[in-house]
Amino acid sequence: MAGDDPKTPPSEKGSGSDADVPKDLAKEIKYIEELFTVDTAKLKQITDHFVKELEKGLSVEGGSIPMNPTWVMGFPTGHETGTFLALDMGGTNLRVCQVTLTDQQSEFDIIQSKYRIPPPLKTGTAEELFEYIADCLLQFIQTHHDDLSQIGRMPLGFTFSYPATQNYIDEGILQRWTKGFDIEGVEGKNVVPMFEAALARRGVPIRLAALINDTTGTLIASAYTDPKMKIGCIFGTGCNAAYMEDCGSIPKLAHLNLPPETPMAINCEWGAFDNEHKVLPRTPYDITIDEDSPRPGQQAFEKMIAGLYLGEIFRLTLVDLHDNHDRRVFVGQDITKLRKPYTLDTSFLSAIEEDSDENLSDIAGLFQNKLNITPNKAERILIKRLAELIGTRAARLSACGVAAICKKKGYKECHVGADGSVFNKYPHFKERGAQALREILDWGEKKDPKEEDPIEILAAEDGSGVGAALIAALTLERVQKGNLHGILHPENYV
Ligand code: BGC
Repeated sequence: MAGDDPKTPPSEKGSGSDADVPKDLAKEIKYIEELFTVDTAKLKQITDHFVKELEKGLSVEGGSIPMNPTWVMGFPTGHETGTFLALDMGGTNLRVCQVTLTDQQSEFDIIQSKYRIPPPLKTGTAEELFEYIADCLLQFIQTHHDDLSQIGRMPLGFTFSYPATQNYIDEGILQRWTKGFDIEGVEGKNVVPMFEAALARRGVPIRLAALINDTTGTLIASAYTDPKMKIGCIFGTGCNAAYMEDCGSIPKLAHLNLPPETPMAINCEWGAFDNEHKVLPRTPYDITIDEDSPRPGQQAFEKMIAGLYLGEIFRLTLVDLHDNHDRRVFVGQDITKLRKPYTLDTSFLSAIEEDSDENLSDIAGLFQNKLNITPNKAERILIKRLAELIGTRAARLSACGVAAICKKKGYKECHVGADGSVFNKYPHFKERGAQALREILDWGEKKDPKEEDPIEILAAEDGSGVGAALIAALTLERVQKGNLHGILHPENYV
């Protein structure tokens, strides 16, 4: 049973202008419901497979899910202090922050600037990308500091939210680009020297202290203010999670002889779950997205869930319903604009789901303005149902990843910190995810609606700002204590 009851739309009389337009698209709606609904049994099957794959990723042989050790070796106490720079290169935006962790427990001050990453940079050259990043950082510094030498003493945490191998906390060897990035000559290389070279060319005396994934930052920032936080997740342009493992359960690190009970944050990179296509219920549209992407065969899970793809799944489905399936959708309409790949982003779906007007007039306006299509009432009902199904599927599949980490770690009760545009802005994403967790983990019906769930997915603290600063602070503390595991350049903290 999906999070939302599949409803048969009321058949419509007389709202279409064209006599050939079907007044009831029940058959098409049934088709999409069958395609996109993920029932409880399937969620459980996916979760069980997920647990095995998490373990495989930690093994010496490895698996599809990278399970990257991050050298973040403990939670904050809330007493960390200092001023740090944080740079966040997300899928859509670049953010520069200066974070001060104050003497007040779990408190911080932050100043920040946001820059949109120009889309052509995502498929340009490495030099163009790092030059742009360095320029933004320089602009930020010039705005906020007269004296550049002051800056040189501030450790910088660089949130680089792509799968990266880290033999040290201050390196990041890009495993593969995700989220539509496709820049030649970076995969398989350490991105830190590329970034540092761009800074050096500008004479900016900054020392990169730690390279961080957004999920690890989210985990640490959330645990700073809430000790019940055990997992950090991002549901945004991409999707992923991090949690704290103990070194004794990471066979691929056994050769380092770290004490078994030592904590180590793992960046799961769970977007790669089921790249083998064993359990995920992929539709023909998911297959097309994968085949037409810059990295076919990669990020199977992410491509069904993340914000970059939801609008495209929706678009491909509508084009197929128009062209095939007895051709009863958008009959006689020019759908040229709808045929353009990636023309609809997730905010378009959010706006569709938000239309609660009986006549679905916002949907009519959205289609008219963006796509030059005039949907009749039956089509508007189908459009809304399709958005609901795609959004619900994303939330329910996401819950499988959370449930899998909890099962693996034996967490019966905890908080999960989540961030990202889909989590924060997509209507009902949180409720649908919570409902799916309830089904997967057999909690039974809630007695009191106000009662907390045993495992709650909550809005996280700012991972790539505060989290990056905290990770720099925790690493600095380790340097001071002489615990230099996974720190290549301790001098960057002096
Ligand atoms: C990346 C992850 C990141 C996630 C969320 C994925 O595409 O591979 O490193 O955490 O997006 O930003």
